[in-house]
Amino acid sequence: MKTRMKLGAGWVACALALPGAALAQAQPVKGPAATAAIQWKVVKATLPAGDVDFPAGDGSMIATSQCLICHSAGTVLRQPPQPQAQWLAEIRKMRALWGAPIPVDEEEALSRYLARINGPK
Ligand code: HEC
Repeated sequence: MKTRMKLGAGWVACALALPGAALAQAQPVKGPAATAAIQWKVVKATLPAGDVDFPAGDGSMIATSQCLICHSAGTVLRQPPQPQAQWLAEIRKMRALWGAPIPVDEEEALSRYLARINGPK
């Protein structure tokens, strides 16, 4: 440690890393030195885009806007064919389990669409 500044930052880092010890000493970290130990970085990440789209047709806009929020169309299209009632259950499962924000009044049209593009023939 060459300078007092660096020494100070080192102590702050220790205090943050060992909150138990910091609490035991009852010495709250204050001032600019406290924030100097926390550094934010801007990171760029490109997630792989799905390489398939939902096939065009009545209801495809719902699928595109509601079902690509979290995963690719392939996640839906690679499923074995299912009747509409099962697609409806799948949509509700997405909402209940993962918090998919699809409005209730779009469920019917979407499940009809999904059964048409990936239902028993
Ligand atoms: C809020 C995020 C989210 C949204 C929005 C969403 N899903 Fe999912 N979905 C997931 C997750 C997470 C998985 C993966 C579960 C796993 O890997 O076990 C998944 C998996 C699936 C699967 C694979 C089978 C299964 O049940 O795991 C299907 C089919 C599916 N989603 C359909 C849909 C449809 C249709 C929509 C549009 C209404 C949709 N998802 C919207 C989160 C979401």
